[in-house]
Amino acid sequence: MKSTEISGVFRQKGKLFTINPDKCKGIKIYNERLILYNGKEFRSWNPYRSKLAAAILNGLTSINFSSKKNILYLGAATGTTVSHISDITTEGTIYAVEYSPVAVKKLLEICKIRSNIVPILADANHPERYLSSVPKIDFIYQDISQRNQADIFIDNVKIFLKQKGEGILMIKARSIDVASSPKKIYDAVIDKIKKQDLNVTNLIDLSPNVKDHAAVVIAT
Ligand SMILES: C[S@@+](CC[C@H](N)C(=O)[O-])C[C@H]1O[C@@H](n2cnc3c(N)ncnc32)[C@H](O)[C@@H]1O
Repeated sequence: MKSTEISGVFRQKGKLFTINPDKCKGIKIYNERLILYNGKEFRSWNPYRSKLAAAILNGLTSINFSSKKNILYLGAATGTTVSHISDITTEGTIYAVEYSPVAVKKLLEICKIRSNIVPILADANHPERYLSSVPKIDFIYQDISQRNQADIFIDNVKIFLKQKGEGILMIKARSIDVASSPKKIYDAVIDKIKKQDLNVTNLIDLSPNVKDHAAVVIAT
């Protein structure tokens, strides 16, 4: 098991892993593999199930997810990727926003054993509705397949992201326009973000693990 450039993320035989906290030993979130190595339990991180894992496998190195970061996660679903970030940011808090009550019910199960996740049942189109539950944050992560996904990201960045913060927007090209080429859509999203005086530091295509998606990495 080797460390990667991203703190808390490990690699073995081309696959990614994070460390399951001691209190979660033996507990799987989405039927991932658990491997004991040097007294620690490592959870395999499936790039077909998590766009963040796909981005890291495709060369994402420039993010700083150190153990104390506070993260706003938009589109938490049932907590697959949230759980791996929870392994990494052991002393930070992940504010996990999701608008599907069915998904949040499952997410709540994870929160019972992982105290660094705060579940928030809310629509990310309305950040004012969770303003009182979320402090200024270090990192914003969004994985929401909506036509207005770039606007949702920008609105949340403006309200919650600290100065010298970072973020990732996972773009699903087909949700924005089925007729245009993904490249054109990524360029349009990047233009929109740059107009807000945000720096786009990386664009990573997520194929072959996730088709027609890209990760846009930003910094303030
Ligand atoms: C692709 S899934 C996210 C998968 C998750 N990020 C992961 O890797 O484990 C997108 C999620 O965004 C949620 N979603 C879509 N629009 C939303 C909105 N406006 N506010 C909050 N959640 C939203 C959906 O209900 C869905 O669970």
